[in-house]
Amino acid sequence: MQSRYRWWRDAVIYQVYVRSFLDSTGDGVGDLAGVRAGLPYLKKLGVDGIWLSPFYPSPQHDHGYDVADYCDVDPLFGDLAEFDLLVRAARRLGIKVLLDIVPNHCSSEHRWFREALASPPGSAARARFHFADGRGPDGAEPPNNWHAMFGGPAWTRVPDGQWYLHMFTPEQPDWNWRNPETGAEFARVLRFWLDRGVDGFRIDVAAGLFKHPDLPDSPDPEADARTRDSVNPLAWNQPEVHDVWRQWRAICDEYAARDGRERLLVGEVSVPTAREHALYVRPDELHQAFFFDLLGAPWDPDAFRKVISEAMQDIAGTGSTVTWVLNNHDQVRTVTRYGEPAPEGSGLGAARARAAALLMLALPGAAYIYQGEELGLPEVVDLPDDVLTDPIFRRTGSRARIRDGCRVPLPWSGQASPFGFTSGVEGVKPWLPQPEWFAEHATDRALADTRSFWHLYRDGLQLRASLPQLGEGTLRWLDTPPDVLAFARGDDLVCAVNFGTAPVPAPVPGAPLLASGPCPDAGVLPGSTAAWWITDPSSTPHL
Ligand code: GLC
Repeated sequence: MQSRYRWWRDAVIYQVYVRSFLDSTGDGVGDLAGVRAGLPYLKKLGVDGIWLSPFYPSPQHDHGYDVADYCDVDPLFGDLAEFDLLVRAARRLGIKVLLDIVPNHCSSEHRWFREALASPPGSAARARFHFADGRGPDGAEPPNNWHAMFGGPAWTRVPDGQWYLHMFTPEQPDWNWRNPETGAEFARVLRFWLDRGVDGFRIDVAAGLFKHPDLPDSPDPEADARTRDSVNPLAWNQPEVHDVWRQWRAICDEYAARDGRERLLVGEVSVPTAREHALYVRPDELHQAFFFDLLGAPWDPDAFRKVISEAMQDIAGTGSTVTWVLNNHDQVRTVTRYGEPAPEGSGLGAARARAAALLMLALPGAAYIYQGEELGLPEVVDLPDDVLTDPIFRRTGSRARIRDGCRVPLPWSGQASPFGFTSGVEGVKPWLPQPEWFAEHATDRALADTRSFWHLYRDGLQLRASLPQLGEGTLRWLDTPPDVLAFARGDDLVCAVNFGTAPVPAPVPGAPLLASGPCPDAGVLPGSTAAWWITDPSSTPHL
């Protein structure tokens, strides 16, 4: 009972970016029926659950993170009946289903925002958002100096002269969480999906929601906008947000108490320190929050050791477990990220990404895998400007080409685009072009080749499921040479990673249980390789 109840603590969740997973209707865009068709593939891989990127009705200015109706399915992706079929099919396979909920902002097409635009300044309809008068003699200056996360000012003016706040694009107006109607509406939305059987929610921008009540100027607006994930302390991470997570946790706990099936809240929490991060996962708040510092760490043993130690320290005592992540739909994929500045074609990026995967799967806590990570997909770095759809590209004057390259539709089979992604109505192309070299990474090839990324992930997941040492708990660092990180899990499992390129003596004698690359010589760990060993503690001095 206990382990079933706490399933999320060491779960491995697969992030499905719905529009790029599998297209069942032949329109070039992935959909919910495609996800359902892909479930057996995910079952074979061995994941515990899936997180579905937003599929709600949306004008798709930010690929669904601009939600026009929180309780329906966009016809682009299917309908509620198809959603129900997907949940039922996943349940039959023992795969949990998490939805992506977006409470910081909605779409400018949301009925309440339209109502706000049609209503006068000072009206109840406007009070659901942040409408304010501008500054300067004719109010032509925005109400404050905040920048939007995706470039440009955080305010847009409406025809009657007022301005509204949007921390992302103008098509994504921010909700006013100081208005009790907002909280009540989101409680209704949570219940709508919980009643349809979902196992939880990934919460978008979970450190957002509340803004400083006076909406004052930022002392350093340039710094707030310097990186996409930097934090404007007046717009994010306000203390009141924690009350919302307490309320949402109570709703989830209420459902769990009814049927013993614990529902999960996992937050996208970007805050400056691991300590602040830990506040979000106190026992009565979110179950988990993505720990992005691992994703942000360069390929360097000291950097990895530091972020892992900090995460373990800060999470201790919160009742949560660390939620590790190396890739997602907003970041350059690991194969490419770790490959730089290595010469192209050296294979270093792929070797390091494989090693990082084994490291992540050996850490205590939960792990998230982003679709295509299990295929070792590199970033598509040379998409032509005219196909890019990420609003960041447009809003930064074409400077930032960040997020399209990791969102290219998955290759499933065959030698040429669409690689089985779309059922192939003549002339219909995937919504982003797939390069020819995607053939090398197609799932049919990956499944047939035991040296593929896919097999590494599958073997890692299988071992993780069968070895109690790899569940939640702690780790102990072992003494190692400078280029190597090694830690023990339980009494007898060791994971070591060689961050350097030269071989080193392995911390454990004998052949590894699983390795991210060839380990031809027992007792030697090649460069850019990770391995797991089961060892006899009495014969290994530092255990
Ligand atoms: C989160 C999502 C990202 C989205 C943004 C605005 O960071 O991961 O894709 O654009 O929120 O909703």
